[in-house]
Amino acid sequence: MRRAIWAAVAFSLISSTALAENYPSHPITIIVPFAAGGPSDAMARILAERMKTTLGEAILIENVTGAGGSIGVGRAVRSAPDGYTISFGHLGTHVANGAIYKLGYDLVADLEPVVLLPSNPMIIVSKNAVPAKSLKELLAWLKSRPAPPTAGTAGAGSGSHIAGLYFESVAGIKLQYVPYRGTAPAMNDLVAGQIDLIVDQTSNSISQVRAGTIRAYAVTDGKRVESAPDIPTTDEAGLPGFHMTLWSGLWLPKGTPKEIVTKINAAAVEALNDGAVKKQFENLGLQMPPKDQLSPQALGDWQKAEIAKWWPMIKSANVKVD
Ligand code: MLT
Repeated sequence: MRRAIWAAVAFSLISSTALAENYPSHPITIIVPFAAGGPSDAMARILAERMKTTLGEAILIENVTGAGGSIGVGRAVRSAPDGYTISFGHLGTHVANGAIYKLGYDLVADLEPVVLLPSNPMIIVSKNAVPAKSLKELLAWLKSRPAPPTAGTAGAGSGSHIAGLYFESVAGIKLQYVPYRGTAPAMNDLVAGQIDLIVDQTSNSISQVRAGTIRAYAVTDGKRVESAPDIPTTDEAGLPGFHMTLWSGLWLPKGTPKEIVTKINAAAVEALNDGAVKKQFENLGLQMPPKDQLSPQALGDWQKAEIAKWWPMIKSANVKVD
């Protein structure tokens, strides 16, 4: 019996070392838990295009949507810990959802942090039909509505939902949330005037704002977005302190060999340092992560700190999910 156990341990060590040495030997999949064409999808595709050069294998994007992104993350958690299924996520999927859903998995214990990715200041945008030209006028209009105005989100727990909850609490307003499988489809309905507003990721709204198909009121950051200098901050626009940037990251299933985590981290860091990639991200209004925060450990520590920060607010909002 003891010999059998040692044999098994030896085998798993040999196999994981062999696995790591030959990694990657076939295409890799990044699971994006929101609809194609949205901010998470856009960031993952830009990153994958550059990471495949370093890793020498194709990287496919699979959009597995629903339940605020928790279904896509669950799929990644349950996949083999061999480096071929990577979980893309953010403050919503890898922090907020743990305070809202009975996930069936643990966001810290069941996932290996790999790398912190760029963050996105949020932006308050509305359909053009809203009779308001400033944040102050928007707040007056929102408060004058007989019924709560409709706010598009990517589902309970998503970035756009958490930002909506935060907006409600700092502005003293009530919103009626309309969930979509991502903010890409929500944006289509905002442009069409089907919903009133979104507290969106800047990278998702910026092209529509530039096209004049929706109206922007403020970005939820202490400084203006370089690629959209005409949009005031919430401090400047009359909602001081309403600050929120949505950070993203990559994770792997727990038990993935450390050597593979290191290889994927290195490929992601190389992509983040690539001039062309940085240009694309900055043009979308994204903020690059600090250079000393790019280790797997740094993401793990940051995720735990954000859980401690956000769960009390989210739990006090008493979000109902089916
Ligand atoms: C998306 O890609 O649709 C977003 O990340 C959704 C969100 O969290 O608001």
